Amino acid sequence: MKPKLLIVDDDEEIRTQLRWAVATEYEVIQAGDRSEAVRLFREHRPAVVLLDLGLPPHTGTPEEGLAGLSQILDVEPSTKVVIASGQNEREIALRAVGSGAYDFLAKPVDIEELKLLLKRCFYVAQLEDDYRAMQKTVRSDGFEGMLGGSLSMQTVFGAIRKVAASEAPVLILGESGTGKEVASRAIHQQSPRRDGPFVAINCSAIPETLLESELFGHEKGAFTGAHAQRKGRIEQASGGTLFLDEIGEIPLSIQVKLLRFLQEQTIERIGGRGVIQVDARVIAATNADLEKGIKAGTFREDFFYRLAVVRLNLPPLRDRGDDLRLIAQSFLHRFSAENNRQGLTFSQEAIKAIYRHNWPGNIRELQNRVRRAVIMPESNRLTAADLELEQLMEAGGVMTLKDARENLERDMIRTALRKHAGRMAPAAAELGISRPTLYDLMDKLGLQKTEQPESASP
Ligand SMILES: Nc1ncnc2c1ncn2[C@@H]1O[C@H](COP(=O)(O)OP(=O)(O)OP(=O)(O)O)[C@@H](O)[C@H]1O
Ligand SMILES: [Mg+2]
Repeated sequence: MKPKLLIVDDDEEIRTQLRWAVATEYEVIQAGDRSEAVRLFREHRPAVVLLDLGLPPHTGTPEEGLAGLSQILDVEPSTKVVIASGQNEREIALRAVGSGAYDFLAKPVDIEELKLLLKRCFYVAQLEDDYRAMQKTVRSDGFEGMLGGSLSMQTVFGAIRKVAASEAPVLILGESGTGKEVASRAIHQQSPRRDGPFVAINCSAIPETLLESELFGHEKGAFTGAHAQRKGRIEQASGGTLFLDEIGEIPLSIQVKLLRFLQEQTIERIGGRGVIQVDARVIAATNADLEKGIKAGTFREDFFYRLAVVRLNLPPLRDRGDDLRLIAQSFLHRFSAENNRQGLTFSQEAIKAIYRHNWPGNIRELQNRVRRAVIMPESNRLTAADLELEQLMEAGGVMTLKDARENLERDMIRTALRKHAGRMAPAAAELGISRPTLYDLMDKLGLQKTEQPESASP
């Protein structure tokens, strides 16, 4: 969609010329006098206006133009209004800038100069828009039930808003417990389909033999046990959103049928006689590496590309900075209220342990640990032990040299791995040990590995 530009000039010939010059880049709206300009501005809300000051009935003076400028800015103060002024009207143009115009151009307008200036105007308008959108999310520190003030989550919220407006299929990727289902609900809620149904189906929880009829439905008598006609989940999602969870688990035979649905928006019920048109938006999620599945032949490449028109990556909890604390506090608040246990807080030691932990189960793990901790805490100040997290040295506490060494080793290994995105070889190099030693050490320290030893060997 081209951005809208309003051109205001009483000379129709000039308007037409200007329009021709920029019509490939902008959707041009034209007005010949002030009242028409203001009316069209209200209707179309262009981010940029090119305004001639000498408008009827007083074409010899700038008053009509200046009045138009102030009316436009009253409606939308962030509008970029560019004044087109006569050769000897520099002073007037400056006055206009003083009243809120963004810039001015001398008449006759040089087309190249105009194009450059318009480009800059639209660019600045876009930046301001993005900034406002960002401010909105930052202020709330959360979005559709998802908490997150970290840059990585703010980026996710921005992406969700953007993809919600489109109809394209979305593939959500993320480790288990990172919020793939809540993210898909957020997309639905933000989309024009929000009043339609949100239908979720977990492709790994249903046996292959049932999955097809679950998704596509069946006619009466289609197979033994099909006593009545039944609509599948896809049809149930008509007018809304279909969420295919654990898409990596879906059998090849069903991938073909889903591919056809994605391509043609049609399905066939099992035992059905004809195709049925269904209007449902598809969101899929997985924590599996689908590209690996493609290589192994368990996942169709054409299906993958149809699904992954838009990809949304949910970062692991350990990469979300202070969201750890934010989300932990919010769970504490919620579960202590549910258990009628007022006044519970995290001790400093617990907070530290939360930051040190790797959170392989992400938010779901955090939720479970806090839920368990509030049931029978040692005191009102929850400890790392209440959270069943690794305990640190306490002031005055007793710690053996071995514990201290292991804690340090654990810390250094985690830091090195984080720095190298979980890759063992560079992490080992940084730590000054061999890769096999790093594996052994991690086994001994009970650290979880993201890479398999086989794939790491040369
Ligand atoms: N940003 C967040 N803020 C607060 N709670 C969240 C956030 N993200 C997820 N949650 C909560 O964490 C739990 C797990 O989320 P969800 O089920 O969406 O994750 P998932 O990625 O689908 O997990 P799995 O891979 O286990 O299916 C849910 O209870 C959800 O409400
Ligand atoms: Mg899930």
